Amino acid sequence: MNILVTGGLGYIGSHTCIKLIEAGYTPIILDNLYNSKKSVLNRIATITGKMPIFYQGDIRDTVYLTTLFSQHPIQAVIHFAGLKAVGESVKNPLDYYEVNVQGSIALAQIMRQHQVKTIIFSSSATVYGEKNPVPYFEHYPTGNITNPYGWSKFMVEQCLIDMQKADPEWSVVLLRYFNPVGAHPSGLIGEDPQGIPNNLMPYISQVAIGKREYVSVFGDDYPTKDGTGVRDYVHVEDLALGHVAALKKHDQAGVHIYNLGNGVAKSVLDVIQAYHQACQRVIPYKIEARRPGDLPAFWADVTKAKQELNWQAHHTLSDMVQDSWNWQQKNPHGYPDEE
Ligand code: NAD
Ligand code: WQD
Repeated sequence: MNILVTGGLGYIGSHTCIKLIEAGYTPIILDNLYNSKKSVLNRIATITGKMPIFYQGDIRDTVYLTTLFSQHPIQAVIHFAGLKAVGESVKNPLDYYEVNVQGSIALAQIMRQHQVKTIIFSSSATVYGEKNPVPYFEHYPTGNITNPYGWSKFMVEQCLIDMQKADPEWSVVLLRYFNPVGAHPSGLIGEDPQGIPNNLMPYISQVAIGKREYVSVFGDDYPTKDGTGVRDYVHVEDLALGHVAALKKHDQAGVHIYNLGNGVAKSVLDVIQAYHQACQRVIPYKIEARRPGDLPAFWADVTKAKQELNWQAHHTLSDMVQDSWNWQQKNPHGYPDEE
């Protein structure tokens, strides 16, 4: 079964391609390399023994998409491609709406033209906004979001929901990821942020390896157990398997929405402490001001994915930090351009 994986060379996409191959699927990767390197392909091949088919192209390029769909029979699309930096989206909102929203519409239109009516979309816990109580359930209202990145996910969800309403043959799966971290246990693939990492785990990794001096802890006066922000960290390996589980919805038309998280709440200081234990190095940190737009605490209710997809996360925070550290040590400068 051929699965088109947009953004398949990125962090979550590359881990998912490995799980797809291991489950007997054939991923066909479309990626414009905006935030990834071609050398990821070799790493996937080393791990799985199979070199995935790769197209270097843009989801907004409908001519290119048409060619791709004409060359391969495709049964379903897993749609990761997009921009994901919250702060950058505040500065350049139009870029985010263009790539994330316009790009998803272009993709869905070409899918419709080729009668491919199953899409699994990378959404985010950010769509729950700032008014919902925790933990988040899938039936909660979405909206009240604090940044254009989050709104772009909200808008794509709405486009896909309306599209399915108009043509009930579609199967639309919206996966709302919580905080993906960790890396493949081989240390061959992992998260490779360009420049200063925006997210906590890669930042801690770079402090641990000596690339950065200390972790800035954004606020210690939240109403949480130790005052620092609380999140639901989920191992990227578990997350990747969530996509394989979601593919089972292929023949079930409708809109299916799932939280993919651990259902476990951890603070910033919990993560720093766990990382310290994994790497046996001091992780210096300084308490600083809150980061604008951050919520104090959120985590997932994960019952629905467990009941309907038979999926649940198994890796602990200790597994996550160990695999992050393993990846960081083996790839202190991230992926090479070519390999
Ligand atoms: P990533 O940046 O590592 O991967 C995205 C991939 O898409 C990259 O390889 C990039 O080159 C590619 N891409 C970007 N624009 C493209 C375009 N116009 N055409 C084709 N390819 C394009 O990001 P990730 O962390 O793997 O995230 C994957 C998806 O999951 C994104 O949609 C992201 O918004 C969503 N998501 C991520 C997180 C997270 O914390 N990582 C959380 C929730 C949701
Ligand atoms: C986690 C916690 C920070 C960095 C973002 C997006 C979300 C999703 C995942 C894409 C918070 C604190 C962080 C640092 C810190 N991405 N922190 N020092 O903000 O929960 O989620 O990434 O879809 O949509 O909003 O993740 O890793 O940035 O932060 O203290 O240097 O760590 O305040 O409490 P976040 P994060």
